Amino acid sequence: MSSIYEAEYQRRRNQNWEGWFRESGITEVKARVHRRLSGITPPLRFLEIGCGVGDQTIEIAGLGHTVLGIDISPTAIEWASEKNTHPNCIYRVEDATSLASIPDQSIDAVWDGNCLHFLIGEDRSQSLAALFRVIATGGTLYINSVVGASGDFPGYDPVTRTQYMNGHAVTYFAEESELMDEISRAGFVIQQVEIQPGEAGISCDFAEILAIRP
Ligand SMILES: C[S@@+](CC[C@H](N)C(=O)[O-])C[C@H]1O[C@@H](n2cnc3c(N)ncnc32)[C@H](O)[C@@H]1O
Repeated sequence: MSSIYEAEYQRRRNQNWEGWFRESGITEVKARVHRRLSGITPPLRFLEIGCGVGDQTIEIAGLGHTVLGIDISPTAIEWASEKNTHPNCIYRVEDATSLASIPDQSIDAVWDGNCLHFLIGEDRSQSLAALFRVIATGGTLYINSVVGASGDFPGYDPVTRTQYMNGHAVTYFAEESELMDEISRAGFVIQQVEIQPGEAGISCDFAEILAIRP
């Protein structure tokens, strides 16, 4: 699976994109960081899963936190290390389904950098279990995830609720209740759920969930 994202980042970089997004959309994702995190007293030890080129990582660091940004794509991590440098940011190639190099309970808060919906099947529960392992007791999980059906996306299969790219499953559109069950089953206690309606031309909604590791 990792090769899909690696190939996509190589292609995007060769075509002078700004990151995962060509340019648009990034304003919205940066705004989300500030909307969701600006009330939190720093410094916390943040982990961003699926950090890509670090556009959200650096915003979190700018709020006074230390951030470990991880991504499965080596090109994304190399790009992030060049583009979004900040003394409080560290980037590392790491698989969000295992977080193998991150010690137990060593993280205060996890920011889902639009990564969970890129995990398919058992990868989702494995990742949530790994997140539960690395977050300290009382720590916070911030999920940012597409929910609902999306017939508008190319390659979307309504039966599996999955978007396919070149024959590979790349995005899973969980039902809102299913996503909350997955998070709860991993041991987290959900404290807030906000559903942002789909933007123009996109039929899925976006779930912003705050959960605590008890
Ligand atoms: C929509 S992109 C978001 C990137 C970045 N957070 C941003 O806003 O620009 C989702 C990211 O998840 C990463 N990803 C997918 N599967 C992953 C996995 N198993 N472990 C870590 N990262 C993964 C992809 O490489 C990609 O960078």
